[in-house]
Amino acid sequence: MITHIVFSPNGKTLEVASHFHRHLGGTLYDVTLQKDRDRFVFDQVYETAIVFLPVYSQAVPRPMRPFLKALKVKTLILNITYGGISYGNVCLEAKQAIDPRFVLGYSITPVTHAYGTDQVNIDEIRYQSLIKAIQEQRQGDVPIPFRFKNMMAPVFEKARTYHNIKLTIDHDTCTNCHLCQTLCPVDAIDQDLNITKACIRCARCHHICPEDAISMTPSKSLSFYLRHAKKKTDIIVRHVS
Ligand SMILES: Cc1cc2nc3c(=O)[nH]c(=O)nc-3n(C[C@H](O)[C@H](O)[C@H](O)COP(=O)(O)O)c2cc1C
Repeated sequence: MITHIVFSPNGKTLEVASHFHRHLGGTLYDVTLQKDRDRFVFDQVYETAIVFLPVYSQAVPRPMRPFLKALKVKTLILNITYGGISYGNVCLEAKQAIDPRFVLGYSITPVTHAYGTDQVNIDEIRYQSLIKAIQEQRQGDVPIPFRFKNMMAPVFEKARTYHNIKLTIDHDTCTNCHLCQTLCPVDAIDQDLNITKACIRCARCHHICPEDAISMTPSKSLSFYLRHAKKKTDIIVRHVS
């Protein structure tokens, strides 16, 4: 029985997860809105789990770090999405946090950036060999190479993310539907519909607001990176052969 676990504030990682789930069956847990996600995993050991994560600041998204540490998995498959800027060393960091017995395979997929406008299509054919390896229940451990990431990425990560993108609610346009508050993965929007310090800048509120009342302004440096994102790179797939 395969367990698929996905964190996907803006739906791209969920697209990848749905593809694997359609081909492999099993149970899909979308933990994006699950506020007690760390407790949900505690007393289970998953035989085969596929974890789907976006890259945030060249790292595992902060709300998922305690979750990964709590997750107990024998055979792990990792599927990472990123916005075409850099995926840092996320695959190895996620593996080290989960500490499974084996990593059967992994993929790294460039997708539409949560802050960008360029649409990037996901070439799902590329996952075929990984899906086959999982179906055949191959045994073994595929090495994940260490990658250098920008040394500044972990420094003041939270402050830099805040600086990089500004999210503003226009209270004149807002119709108080509270959808942003209900669908925030980290409960960062208060009763008066103000964005609090708990915000991780995932920008989900901006994308889902039916009135376009939440604006998103990237900093100059982020705009530069967004313009130069390498979105045309292929999906990377590795697995035990
Ligand atoms: C807070 C934040 C930080 C991000 N940092 C990076 C990054 O360092 N490198 C990169 O290539 N993409 C980065 N992205 C883009 C995401 O990886 C991309 O939007 C994500 O894979 C989309 O997943 P989702 O649609 O499932 O939420 C970041 C996005 C957000 C919201």
